[in-house]
Amino acid sequence: MATPEYTPFVFLLLLFQSSVWGFPVCQTPQESPTCGYKSCHATKPGMLNVHLVPHTHDDVGWLKTVDQYFYGDRNDIQHAGVQYILDSVVDQLLKNPDRRFIYVETAFFYRWWKQQTDDMQNTVKQLVNEGRLEFVNGGWCMSDEATTHYSAVIDQMTMGLRFLNDTFGHCGRPRVAWHIDPFGHAREHASMFAQMGYDGFFFGRLDYQDRNRRMVAREQEMLWRASESLTPPMADLFTGILPNGYNPPEGFCWDQSCDDPPIRDDPDLEDYNVDDVVTRFLHIAHGQALVYKTNHIIMTMGSDFQYENANLWYKNLDKLIRYVNQMQSNGSEVNVLYSTPSCYLQELHRANLTWPLKGDDFFPYADSAHDFWTGYFTSRPALKRYERISNSYLQTCKQLEVLGGPISRKGPFGAGDSETLKKAMAVAQHHDAVSGTEKQHVANDYARKLANGWAHCQVLVSNTLSSLSGSSAPRVYCEHLNISVCPLTETMNVYNPLARPVSWPVRLPVNGTAYRISDVVPVSQATAAVRRGRGYAVNELLFQVQAPPLGYSTYSVSLLQNGPPSPQSSPLPRAPKASFSPQPSSLLSLCASIVTLRDFLSSLFCVCLSRYNASDGNNSESIQMSGAYIFRPNTSTPFIISKTAKIETLQNSVVQEVRQWFSPWVSQVVRLYTDSRALELEWTVGPVPIGDDLGKEVISRLDSSINSSGVFYTDSNGREVLQRRKDYRPTWNLRQSEPIAGNYYPINSRAYIKDDKDQLTVVTDRSQGGGSIQDGSLEIMLHRRLLYDDVRGVGEPLNETSDIYPEGLVVRGRHLLSLSPPATAADTHRPLAQEVVLQPSSMDFEKEFSGLQAVLPPAVHLLTVSQWDQDTVLLRLEHQYQASESKEHSQPVTVNLQKLFSTLDVLGVSEMNLSANQWKDEMTRLDWKAESGTHHTGVTNQLSAYSAL
Ligand SMILES: *[C@@H]1O[C@H](CO)[C@@H](O)[C@H](O)[C@H]1NC(C)=O
Ligand SMILES: *[C@@H]1O[C@H](CO)[C@@H](O)[C@H](O)[C@H]1NC(C)=O
Ligand SMILES: *[C@@H]1O[C@H](CO)[C@@H](O)[C@H](O)[C@H]1NC(C)=O
Ligand SMILES: *[C@@H]1O[C@H](CO)[C@@H](O)[C@H](O)[C@H]1NC(C)=O
Ligand SMILES: *[C@@H]1O[C@H](CO)[C@@H](O)[C@H](O)[C@H]1NC(C)=O
Ligand SMILES: [Zn+2]
Repeated sequence: MATPEYTPFVFLLLLFQSSVWGFPVCQTPQESPTCGYKSCHATKPGMLNVHLVPHTHDDVGWLKTVDQYFYGDRNDIQHAGVQYILDSVVDQLLKNPDRRFIYVETAFFYRWWKQQTDDMQNTVKQLVNEGRLEFVNGGWCMSDEATTHYSAVIDQMTMGLRFLNDTFGHCGRPRVAWHIDPFGHAREHASMFAQMGYDGFFFGRLDYQDRNRRMVAREQEMLWRASESLTPPMADLFTGILPNGYNPPEGFCWDQSCDDPPIRDDPDLEDYNVDDVVTRFLHIAHGQALVYKTNHIIMTMGSDFQYENANLWYKNLDKLIRYVNQMQSNGSEVNVLYSTPSCYLQELHRANLTWPLKGDDFFPYADSAHDFWTGYFTSRPALKRYERISNSYLQTCKQLEVLGGPISRKGPFGAGDSETLKKAMAVAQHHDAVSGTEKQHVANDYARKLANGWAHCQVLVSNTLSSLSGSSAPRVYCEHLNISVCPLTETMNVYNPLARPVSWPVRLPVNGTAYRISDVVPVSQATAAVRRGRGYAVNELLFQVQAPPLGYSTYSVSLLQNGPPSPQSSPLPRAPKASFSPQPSSLLSLCASIVTLRDFLSSLFCVCLSRYNASDGNNSESIQMSGAYIFRPNTSTPFIISKTAKIETLQNSVVQEVRQWFSPWVSQVVRLYTDSRALELEWTVGPVPIGDDLGKEVISRLDSSINSSGVFYTDSNGREVLQRRKDYRPTWNLRQSEPIAGNYYPINSRAYIKDDKDQLTVVTDRSQGGGSIQDGSLEIMLHRRLLYDDVRGVGEPLNETSDIYPEGLVVRGRHLLSLSPPATAADTHRPLAQEVVLQPSSMDFEKEFSGLQAVLPPAVHLLTVSQWDQDTVLLRLEHQYQASESKEHSQPVTVNLQKLFSTLDVLGVSEMNLSANQWKDEMTRLDWKAESGTHHTGVTNQLSAYSAL
């Protein structure tokens, strides 16, 4: 299949294994006369129209778990019960057909829906068909934008939107994306929303300086050109900033949780206040109209978990509308109406204006001079890693569900499914989940849900393996690779979820000392310390494996000799040499012991593990402290943990490594695998000491001779890369007030600095925050432990402990460093980043197998293979290079779908939008015109078009 135009993703529904030949029927959607834009209330062209949008913001976990929020459990923590909200709103909508409500989080709506009677379901369908209840956004949750990976965001959006389409059809499709709470906004999210068919996007939070400028310039509504590779308008998204976050205007909150006066409209009573309410309202409306462009303005009438007793809100809103509009007979030119974001959007579109163009993103977010929300880029690093590997395992699980067929879900190992992990991953994308900004007990709940999802997938995977191999021998999983002993049998297998072959270093914890085909290395001191007596393995098996695309390969790792390990008795000549003397910690001196590293690192001076001390609020400029959301070091100079390190070196046929101990709580392994394209830095941090009553934020800083001139690059949600410049924002003149925190950006999978000759790229294994504070330097925050709450609502210090680490959590992770000429750097780091995101998993299996007939071209990433219906599979192919990123790979590519899979016959193909809730040929979006000459410079020197399939 060849597509001439440039598209980044192609989304297809493949029909296979079906007895009936044919394409899925692409009917024109049944046009209900009243839902969607047609259901909007009339507005008055000559007047200022105020769109009141009743809404509730229901976090899919934050201070309480998602289940506690749904049922209204633990109201002692926070009064919030989503089931009552939906009950009450539906009831109130039925009382007056003018009323409107929007609902956002499908994770909650889905639970509620399942518990309703047929009658109630029909009633709700009626409300949806008439546009009185409208879904906006509609993903399973409202995802975080800084710390999520695009593949997991697409999955969670697909799940929510599919439920809405399956349940409500055409009228259930949201027209508007709605991210009112996330703490900064990613360009890749806007690009995805555009490709999911949304007509517009609204949000609440942006930098206070940016907002002030936009208010004066009336630029709070704009056209976001969200990709420098896609041809406009493919990734153009109309974007609006809401006037008051997502809260009602001051004095107009009529929820049971608010204290504003109700409308007292009995003229016989002394406290009659209609005139006062109307006057105040008109004042606010006129003020708001001054900072927006059209004669339409929007007011968000609701907030967190509001409308549990919806009568309070609606009774007062009915009156507000009546009394404000009555003034029209006395010459008032303000018209108030019940509305929704899409009805407001439709009026902006009708205004037929041109809009300022936005090319960069909305990071970092500061709500005041010393209050940068850049800490959560790293908060809860262990949860961030677990979320990332769970995504990898979910993709493997979905692939094996397709390759195995029905037996995968019900087979010799019992009933397995991918649904449980899909749902757990979907809630984990929430803006208080993977972001790390939830309470500790809620973080534990997300992790527990993921673990449960893994267990369900493991049954599915076992069933598929046994079906493909024809053997029902028990499967062995080697899961907790950093602690357990792998019970090795004769063979061991590796599954590769990527569509091209990979070579992968496998490390397996074992007891024995000598194995065929493999090197054995002793477990390092740092690893032994991390384990805390759990796990017994004293050695690690270390070997390189190759695995075919979407497939397995088998390795024989039989034991040659068992018994207690002793280096002397090891038959391997390359036993590690330990030298435990303090050494300067700079890499150059390390290089003396590893020859190959010297070449690799000729322009890298130092990998310095350092720390900032957190601000405790005791500061003359501001009382803001560092916390789960906010990063605020108390000085701008990081402290190097130790200038010397105890080191141990190791060299064998697979790897050369230097193990460095800087302090009892900070260590690092510098590792170079034979034939590797990258140097691996494995960091271990914790328990972060707090005996000095100072919170600490630990960074890894790479100092190089690269002449980066204040410029560096970070990815957006793991996909396109944006240019960053120190103390600079592309769209306004920044007054920098936090020299470190104000220069931090989210890094989801990679970051780099470069000059004419060299590019130093770091690929991360989870989302982290980082910046380039000095030229030639790139720093990445690894772990944070803080003693104060940062007063943004979570109400706990970020002071992570666990059963195993009661005195403070220990976290380990990897950075992969590559150094290449800038022109070819992407050829290395793009595939490398994909390999870190989609990891091979090792499991027991008897024969080599590949689900693909042929390897996909290097530019093409197989993003999704997932069972859709009984006879259909959802397939997403992605061109993974930006337009001018690689001479070799940024070119259009052709893939033959007919000959793609080895086990499936493709009977038909139908193209869909990115979120798979619309057929491509039905997809029409509102078109918007950009002002000419507003494209701000500063994010340039990349890309002009995406290459395609
Ligand atoms: C309109 O103005 C008249 C005369 O000032 C006044 O009597 C009447 O109450 C006003 N109506 C409203 C709705 O305020
Ligand atoms: C929109 O504005 C353009 C000029 O900018 C005009 O040519 C066009 O007719 C207008 N369209 C509508 C529907 O008013
Ligand atoms: C080997 O591993 C097992 C657990 O799998 C453990 O019980 C045993 O003590 C270990 N042996 C040695 C020598 O560490
Ligand atoms: C942080 O955790 C440690 C270990 O549980 C505890 O002793 C300490 O009191 C906690 N500090 C704060 C400020 O919560
Ligand atoms: C959406 O749902 C309708 C009604 O069930 C169905 O006909 C249509 O094919 C669905 N659309 C997609 C893209 O799945
Ligand atoms: Zn929220």
